[in-house]
Amino acid sequence: MIEVQSLNINTFRDDIKYNILYDLSLDIIDGEILGIAGESGSGKSVFAKYLLGLNDSNLILKSGELTVDKNIVRSLDDYKHIRGRTISMIFQDAASALNPTFTIGSQLIDTILLHNPSMSKKDARIKAISCLREVEIDYPEDRLDSCPHQLSGGMSQRVMIALALATEPKYLIADESTTALDKLIERQILDLLIKLNKERKLTIIFISHDLSILESICDRVAILYAGELMEIVDEKNMKSNKFYHPYTRALRDCVPRITRESLSSTFRLKTIKGQILQNDETMENRCIFTDRCSFATDKCVKVKPQFNGKFKCVNPIEIDG
Ligand SMILES: Nc1ncnc2c1ncn2[C@@H]1O[C@H](COP(=O)(O)OP(=O)(O)OP(=O)(O)O)[C@@H](O)[C@H]1O
Ligand SMILES: [Mg+2]
Repeated sequence: MIEVQSLNINTFRDDIKYNILYDLSLDIIDGEILGIAGESGSGKSVFAKYLLGLNDSNLILKSGELTVDKNIVRSLDDYKHIRGRTISMIFQDAASALNPTFTIGSQLIDTILLHNPSMSKKDARIKAISCLREVEIDYPEDRLDSCPHQLSGGMSQRVMIALALATEPKYLIADESTTALDKLIERQILDLLIKLNKERKLTIIFISHDLSILESICDRVAILYAGELMEIVDEKNMKSNKFYHPYTRALRDCVPRITRESLSSTFRLKTIKGQILQNDETMENRCIFTDRCSFATDKCVKVKPQFNGKFKCVNPIEIDG
């Protein structure tokens, strides 16, 4: 289990403090697929990089405790120990994450040997083939000799997943990793991730701004807004469109249903009115979503709502069940 407690990450611009992640506590339960959703700039990638200790140095870790499988992660050494080994990550742009000058085989074999220094090259090659087979790449022996530019987008994404799995991690973070793919290939990659979650018991943190995708694969979805955790939606409520937080409701309403109208060239995607406010110190005693919220009342700007385990709102939408 990964536990994140009271995480605060901020940065300074012109002497003003901005909260990039604010008072965020979130557990990632073994075996689950946890979705992380939110508009662009809500802090999804900063959160993912925090789990691996990869954030830029101008982002200040003000407070927060990270525990991975009961071990507290604090130092650079702690991070080195879990990065790649316990937690792996795949990115949106698979093609640029792979080294263009080396074959798939040499990149896989090098990764395997780096994590298993006592393994023979022959065994590493066998393991590389089995990794490619696990991500359902045809003729894996032949593919070892391919270079990244010879692969299609979907296949590059599979190779990147194979690379991430070569070190036998327990957790996999996928940050917008299917966004660049067409819908059919995206579905195939999602099905592969579901298979790995079931068969390997791989815990997956799947980041996307697309709630309809998260709904189709996640056990729970954490909703971020301007660096704050607004709601955690379980699978049942996700599927039946029941949300406590007005922000989640608004975000869900932006997902288009496929209709004749939505396919026409004049169709405009719905967006949430207004813009995300900068989460600076003036926001620390009020709800950050108030200005865009249709349910806001006076009390929303008087006190910062506390996250109660399910949502963070003083005027939640009433849902039954
Ligand atoms: N190194 C940095 N220095 C200053 N601000 C940063 C830095 N990295 C990220 N931010 C800011 O932190 C906020 C969260 O960024 P993040 O990349 O996590 O958003 P995101 O939810 O992943 O968005 P997207 O959906 O576009 O990928 C943004 O406002 C971004 O500008
Ligand atoms: Mg991002």
